Amino acid sequence: MPARTIIEPFRIKSVEPIRWTTRADRERLLAAADYNLFLLPADDVLIDLLTDSGTGAMSTHQWAALVEGDESYAGSRSFDHFRDSIDQIFGYRHVIPTHQGRAAERILFSVMCKKGDVVPNNTHFDTTRANIEFVGANAIDLLIEEGKQPSTVHPFKGNMDIEALESLLRRVGRDKVPLVMLTITNNSGGGQPVSMENIRQVSAICRQHRVPLYFDACRFAENAYFIKGREPGYQSKSPKQIAQEIFRYGDGCTMSAKKDGMANIGGFLCTNDDTLARQEKDLLILTEGYPTYGGLAGRDLEAIAVGLQEALEEDYLRYRIASTAYLGDHISREGVPIVQPPGGHAIYLDARGFLPHIPPEQFPGVALAAELYLEGGIRSVEIGTLMFAAAATMDLVRLAIPRRVYTQSHIDYVVEVILEVWKNRDHIRGLQLTYEAPFLRHFTARLAPLGVAFAQHT
Ligand SMILES: Cc1ncc(COP(=O)(O)O)c(C=O)c1O
Repeated sequence: MPARTIIEPFRIKSVEPIRWTTRADRERLLAAADYNLFLLPADDVLIDLLTDSGTGAMSTHQWAALVEGDESYAGSRSFDHFRDSIDQIFGYRHVIPTHQGRAAERILFSVMCKKGDVVPNNTHFDTTRANIEFVGANAIDLLIEEGKQPSTVHPFKGNMDIEALESLLRRVGRDKVPLVMLTITNNSGGGQPVSMENIRQVSAICRQHRVPLYFDACRFAENAYFIKGREPGYQSKSPKQIAQEIFRYGDGCTMSAKKDGMANIGGFLCTNDDTLARQEKDLLILTEGYPTYGGLAGRDLEAIAVGLQEALEEDYLRYRIASTAYLGDHISREGVPIVQPPGGHAIYLDARGFLPHIPPEQFPGVALAAELYLEGGIRSVEIGTLMFAAAATMDLVRLAIPRRVYTQSHIDYVVEVILEVWKNRDHIRGLQLTYEAPFLRHFTARLAPLGVAFAQHT
């Protein structure tokens, strides 16, 4: 009989100690960080689920490739490895390296968008939205209704609402829509996948209106694995074949290699359009670097070249998706409200369901994230009213699982902490803002518990 336990498909060769703190320590540390977990020193966190971005463990093959890094300013051999690896999967004509995903976004939107334009997406990630708004364009989310209801189970909750896309294109006209984006998987909407059928439909509409389709491809391998498991006709295809098919429906992509690139830094921008590529490379030289390194070291390019292929290995993806679901299933069966079904890279607690006594304007997600830290030294992140202000349709707390970093016993500990907080949820209080930046305010916001005197920050 095949074993039912899905084990970590690796052995551990190098360990990094983590540090315990007491509850009294954490109360002091949290107050010093003004209730914003971004402002905590990482050494004071026991289990860090703030993000899966750049926090993964590299493989022996990646470390070996790092040493092969060619640090030549122009024409580096490592760029050839990087481009060839990307080419095998994505297949776009131009590959432009960037230091991370948002640099690719900034370049793409600076070149393609102008004031008053509209960019539809299933759900824009925070940096994507901010970069679109920064050039004066409007970022519009067109997620299917099922994707907006945390408890509704649907195999592809990241799908775009096809009718809404059609009607938006008719209403505003293709001249105002320089591109359509699809985020795979949909991070801000629960790490939920987009189906191949939806990708095909979105692509057909885009082609009909002669609007290019770009993927926000950060978690393309996880999305491909969900398609394999859930969509008829894909069971016998490899994740790589599925990824190749996805990208054939588009005209380019932005990518943060800190996710399914399995690297600690890096990203890229791809396009099939020669004119755009020229403009993008000019801008790249101005702010990121020469087009064969784009703000990265040669060794980073090597690590990404290997990582992209490893992210598509089936044993890895089986373990990855199963271990995220393990966390989700163990808390939801005790009644904890989460975005269902569990996503690829993270579990999202539904803070409005968890803390119904705290209204959105008192940041229930931030309050819940603070309590998880106080209870067990776990760091998570709010994706809700603090992050998106009035655009927030949900208040979620994301527990993102770094790739190949934590074992099942770490996750069992996380389950215990969440269930303890769930038991005592009635005592959790809301918060108020004491400082906010003009954009991406969640990174630097300062807050205080309601009903407690606080010093105003200037
Ligand atoms: C869907 C999505 N798009 C874009 C980005 C931005 O990538 P980076 O953090 O590398 O700038 C992220 C990062 O978390 C993301 O999840």
